Amino acid sequence: MTTTQPRIQQPYTESALVSKGRYISTEWLAAEYEKLWPQVWQMACRLEQIPQVGDFHEYLIGTQSILLVRESEDTVRAFRNACPHRATRIASGTGHVDAELRCPFHGWAWNLDGSVLEIPDADDFAPECLSRSELRLREATVGLWGGFVFVTFAPDPEPLREFLGPVVEGLAPFEPEKMRLIRHRTTIMDCNWKVGLAAFNEAYHVEATHVWDLSGYARGARVSASGRRTRGADDGGRPDVRDADGRTPGAYQFHYEAFPTHNLMRNVPEMLTESAPLGDHGDPKQAALAMLRLNQMISLAHQDDIDHVEAMANVPGDVPAVRFFTDVRRAAGAAVGVDYSHIPDEDVMSAIDYCIYPNLVGPISAGNWILFRFRPNGKDPDTCLFDVLFLHRFGEGQQPPPVEHEFFPRWQDHDGWGQTIGQDLSNMGHVQAGLHQTSFTGLRLNRQEAGVRNFERFVDRHVLGDHGAS
Ligand code: FES
Ligand SMILES: [Fe+2]
Repeated sequence: MTTTQPRIQQPYTESALVSKGRYISTEWLAAEYEKLWPQVWQMACRLEQIPQVGDFHEYLIGTQSILLVRESEDTVRAFRNACPHRATRIASGTGHVDAELRCPFHGWAWNLDGSVLEIPDADDFAPECLSRSELRLREATVGLWGGFVFVTFAPDPEPLREFLGPVVEGLAPFEPEKMRLIRHRTTIMDCNWKVGLAAFNEAYHVEATHVWDLSGYARGARVSASGRRTRGADDGGRPDVRDADGRTPGAYQFHYEAFPTHNLMRNVPEMLTESAPLGDHGDPKQAALAMLRLNQMISLAHQDDIDHVEAMANVPGDVPAVRFFTDVRRAAGAAVGVDYSHIPDEDVMSAIDYCIYPNLVGPISAGNWILFRFRPNGKDPDTCLFDVLFLHRFGEGQQPPPVEHEFFPRWQDHDGWGQTIGQDLSNMGHVQAGLHQTSFTGLRLNRQEAGVRNFERFVDRHVLGDHGAS
């Protein structure tokens, strides 16, 4: 077995602290609403959340409500959700209408293309009040990509695919347009939306935050068995996986890449050959099932994979775990007619994690994606709306389950986040509280957190007004 070499040769030199006001100031939040959110493309929903003509889904950002309406099989409209009569929100939540949108207050109605259908007692208005062109429902611009409905308020937006840039090509092998939403949960987190996003935009925290569930069985899937380990989970304590130089695997097992706006992190290809063999953890089949269940929590594995391993008579004990899971995923896909042969080995059952500016992040593997979305929550910089979307690729003859949008006012009252994500969430409130300490001056970010720095640089460009500068 080869030894993983540290991949990072050059010293990291970026030393500027990231100012903390952006996370706690109501003025900064107001500036984001004014200068950032109206200028970007925002992921509003999945197409499968409005499958039939007349289906609608409400998307909220701050005080703004947008109704995504399936106008026809191929078109979606994004209506600004205020009646031109006396401003009533025309619809809320998710639902269906038959060929018309009707305001519940006085009954004004529109066709699904936004044109006026009916104004009761129109003769009682001054004629100049009822210019039909002005009474159309106002719209935001819609962009479709990968099965997602994006919206923007920008008057002259750049095309969505240009905004997404390398994300489109990078995710193309995973065919996100063929995935289907299987769970959608929303809650309110006790932190600023950018604090929440940053918690998923680096892997530096993995060794400390996820140490308990990534120890033992799972540790083998994550960490090179190169002999660098100085102490293991079997010692009954916190596993120490530092190398001879005192560095954790996170320093060289993840590859980070920053694009002008977005960024990504991914496991390195050596994961295929250097993850510990299943036999290192006792019975190979039980070890494989334990690791799969753990990965299922973060949507890198699916029940198909567990079923596949359950049905195997012999699980090899000498194959590196990630190699084994890669073959399982491909076989489980092939069994239902889904071909993953065009996806590079290291991405099939490992993790590639795009942070899509300004507020999406989450690991994708062949056929599975857990996507986190963060939005500010009203006028409170100390809380945010947090959505978790689980996406899965179904095979021939498999029927995606109906999806109910679940909302939990307090994230602590729901235990369905999974142990791993629960650990991430439990950090966030502590970060937010610490940001308010007068002794804390700013964030110190390292190489592994360069994506966070990159992200905040773009927030600066929007909020501080020099967007577009080099
Ligand atoms: S407010 Fe909508 S019809 Fe009156
Ligand atoms: Fe995490």
